[in-house]
Amino acid sequence: MKKWMQLLVLITSITSAGTLLASGGFGAGEGSSKNMPAVTNAKWKTECGSCHMVYHPGLLPERSWNKVMAGLDKHFGENASLDAATHDEIAKFLAANSADKQDNRRSNRINESIPASAALMRITETRYFTSKHDEVSANTFKRKSIGSESNCIACHKGAEKGDFSESQLRIPR
Ligand code: HEC
Ligand code: HEC
Repeated sequence: MKKWMQLLVLITSITSAGTLLASGGFGAGEGSSKNMPAVTNAKWKTECGSCHMVYHPGLLPERSWNKVMAGLDKHFGENASLDAATHDEIAKFLAANSADKQDNRRSNRINESIPASAALMRITETRYFTSKHDEVSANTFKRKSIGSESNCIACHKGAEKGDFSESQLRIPR
């Protein structure tokens, strides 16, 4: 690493430590934890995990999950319909653990980044997501080992458990 880069890294870490202190760590509305709590449901795991990784419920607000669940017959070009009982159970699980029912920092930030008038169905379309990934190039997301930005788990090993901490982050070649 070049000397000026080391200096830059040092300054950045001091600045972020400062920001952390300034924000008071556990301030009001910031949530007691950064990570989303690990939550699970067997039907959600099997049904919603059959085509892609399961997206933690804390990644979208309840109104978004309701919209996703209401349109499963035309789900991003696929038919992901469920029988009524399974549909009901998964919809309740998602709603109960959604970003607007959580008190952790990342869910709060995601929730705040979606305009109240919008019910986005993609996490990848939230302002929170785009701001956190503006340094990852489109070509990186397209790597064979990754596929697309929707495949969180390729880089965030703890994604399905709601753990997006740096220690769980590794960008595959
Ligand atoms: C039949 C296959 C299939 C099933 C089953 C399925 N999905 Fe999907 N889902 C897709 C496809 C295809 C996409 C779009 C992926 C892409 O663009 O890379 C998608 C995308 C998503 C996204 C948006 C991810 C982003 O880009 O931010 C969410 C949220 C989602 N699915 C939730 C669910 C939930 C909840 C269930 C279970 C009720 C489910 N999916 C079941 C095929 C499926
Ligand atoms: C190509 C690898 C890659 C993929 C795929 C990816 N991310 Fe990330 N993610 C990153 C990188 C790199 C960062 C920046 C880490 C940093 O700034 O310390 C990041 C940061 C984050 C953060 C912020 C962590 C923090 O506290 O600052 C969250 C939350 C996150 N990603 C969620 C997601 C979700 C949800 C998905 C899937 C919809 C996803 N990521 C897909 C690489 C990826």
